[in-house]
Amino acid sequence: MNQPRHFLSLLDLSASEITDLLTRATELKRLQHQHQEHRTLKNRVLAMLFEKSSTRTRVSFEAGMNQLGGSALFLSPRDIQLGRGEPIEDTARVLSGMVDMIMVRTFEHENITRLARYASVPVINGLTDREHPCQLLADLQTWFEHRGDIQGITVAYIGDGNNMCHSWIHAARLLGFRLNIACPEDYDPDAAILQMAGKNVLIIRDLMEAAEGAHLLVTDVWASMGQEGEQSSRAAVFKPYQINADTMKVADKDALFMHCLPAHRGEEVTADVIDGPQSVVWEEAENRLHSQKALMEFLLLSH
Ligand code: CP
Ligand code: NVA
Repeated sequence: MNQPRHFLSLLDLSASEITDLLTRATELKRLQHQHQEHRTLKNRVLAMLFEKSSTRTRVSFEAGMNQLGGSALFLSPRDIQLGRGEPIEDTARVLSGMVDMIMVRTFEHENITRLARYASVPVINGLTDREHPCQLLADLQTWFEHRGDIQGITVAYIGDGNNMCHSWIHAARLLGFRLNIACPEDYDPDAAILQMAGKNVLIIRDLMEAAEGAHLLVTDVWASMGQEGEQSSRAAVFKPYQINADTMKVADKDALFMHCLPAHRGEEVTADVIDGPQSVVWEEAENRLHSQKALMEFLLLSH
């Protein structure tokens, strides 16, 4: 049997695969908005394994599979034997015999690479502590729909050097745009991920300097899932790294604002920015649905 194609990282796709996949995502969006049937994954089943909370990822995958004519199963470790110590390798082999594709949201990235190694169906990363590649598909689709090509633009990522930051670094490397990262010392992205990215990606400690002239400003929460205990210490360190009206003023006058959500208004972004005219966060969230439908078609029908 052919090895399945997995999507554990944005780097699992080439630049042209991303562009083609997102062109299809925009087409699927049109079909969905016009209530035209597009049941390309009839009777296919997606298992969704969630070790962390989710609104967007869960609903977009489940609704997406339904719209494509298939179905999705929500599996929480509290309910399945994985939570009682059944090895992930065994879970991978058992699920592969019953479903067509597996989506996982977990803590250590290694959990998903182990699962993928033993799965004979495609595995999708629905967020790990290290990466959030599905979110990047939606973010890039949103950029393409608003502004076209992303090559050569400047993106400013303000905040924690976390999973979202890592996936933005991968995007910059693949698609050739400049990424300025403004994060506090000790909260830098992973050194190996940064090093692989080359000269497209710069760490700039000063938020205003990073945002100056940027065409897209992006942020994320200061304390990610699993870091709830650090919430108050992080709030103090990250205070100077808020995107607000002053930050937007130094960016390009047509700059867009993105946030993967959930957002904390008054922390990483002010309400006037996230709810303001330059924010595209609601389309960005909706595009999770369309881009993941295109991803699932790509994984199941093109390979
Ligand atoms: N952006 C995102 O992944 O949202 P959820 O945690 O709600 O899935
Ligand atoms: N960095 C955030 C992203 C949530 C979608 C987290 O991991 O909680």
